[in-house]
Amino acid sequence: MPFYRSPRLISAFDAKFEAQKIAFAPVSFQVARCLLKFDLLQIISDSGVKGCSTTDLATKSKLSEYAVGVLIDMGLSMGLLYLNDGLYVLDKIGHFLLHDDMAKTNLNFTHDVCYQGLFELEASLLEGKPKGLTSLGDWQTIYPGLSQLPNDIKKSWFEFDHYYSDHAFDSLLPLIFKENPKHIVDVGGNTGKWALACTDYNSLVKVTIMDLPGQLDVAMENVRIAGVETRVEAYSTDLLDESNPFCENGDLYWMSQFLDCFSETEILSILKRTVSVMHQNSELCILETFWDRQPFEAGAFCVNATSLYFTAIANGNSRMYHSKTLLKLISQAGLFVDEDIDSIGLGHTLLRCKLKP
Ligand SMILES: C[S@@+](CC[C@H](N)C(=O)[O-])C[C@H]1O[C@@H](n2cnc3c(N)ncnc32)[C@H](O)[C@@H]1O
Repeated sequence: MPFYRSPRLISAFDAKFEAQKIAFAPVSFQVARCLLKFDLLQIISDSGVKGCSTTDLATKSKLSEYAVGVLIDMGLSMGLLYLNDGLYVLDKIGHFLLHDDMAKTNLNFTHDVCYQGLFELEASLLEGKPKGLTSLGDWQTIYPGLSQLPNDIKKSWFEFDHYYSDHAFDSLLPLIFKENPKHIVDVGGNTGKWALACTDYNSLVKVTIMDLPGQLDVAMENVRIAGVETRVEAYSTDLLDESNPFCENGDLYWMSQFLDCFSETEILSILKRTVSVMHQNSELCILETFWDRQPFEAGAFCVNATSLYFTAIANGNSRMYHSKTLLKLISQAGLFVDEDIDSIGLGHTLLRCKLKP
């Protein structure tokens, strides 16, 4: 991680401008969203380097000239557009806002899941509770509510979650099946995507998905549709309740984008309970996005920003961790890291853990 290790090379004049960008960041965010929502960036893109007038844009969109005007003038200030002889042309940042899947996924997640709740960040930090979660529903954490979220919000949450893990699956499957596990326990298996990827990759493996009941209903419906109900089982549990039993007899325990949903104390408890059911040859594979292991600054920015979703909306006490934090907890739980592989998918790290001798 070469970035974050030295002061930024920036003039005071430019730094002052950066500070104004932060002061108006929610305005920029909503303008970007509306430029996309009302197809203005698409219409401007379609007009190529010739560009578009405000009148053209008002005619081709549902908006008044006034509405188009305030949006595209701010678009200029945000570097999304430039002016060519008084006509608006798409610039490079606008191009990526329009076409980059990751920007779209992050933007929809931020708007639908986080935006209103983030107003309660201050209170969430003080109380250690997700005070912004009330903007979505009445639960202690977001997880029991996931399957009950309104459809557009649910879609943005799942697209965000899946976007990052899906990109990692292809390169992970050969690594995971290297030691030929017969029974995989997918802890926090969500909608069953990983379980189905495993049963598709290997014709003999059995998978148990441990998760909350709401997620398991969706997962098992997907399992039925895929026709692998004889090989995939549901194990309904709340892992925050230490008195609940833990699925035994796994050759490989799998935790993907899962431990970041818990505080350090909760992680240690979950890891210790996993250790208590592992046999000498089983392994625990942890897939996480650590901010210190990102190859690019853009990745570290996205990962650190995601932490605040956990603070204000998801649970109030978890985050995207520094790798050293998790490595310490893994060791305290009685495990050692046998393999530590970075740069999987979009900045994931795989930690392959075994019982200490
Ligand atoms: C961020 S999702 C990760 C999903 C999936 N493993 C992936 O890589 O895309 C976290 C999962 O952990 C589950 N989870 C969160 N809190 C839980 C709890 N207390 N008990 C059981 N599962 C829980 C959630 O329901 C969700 O399916």
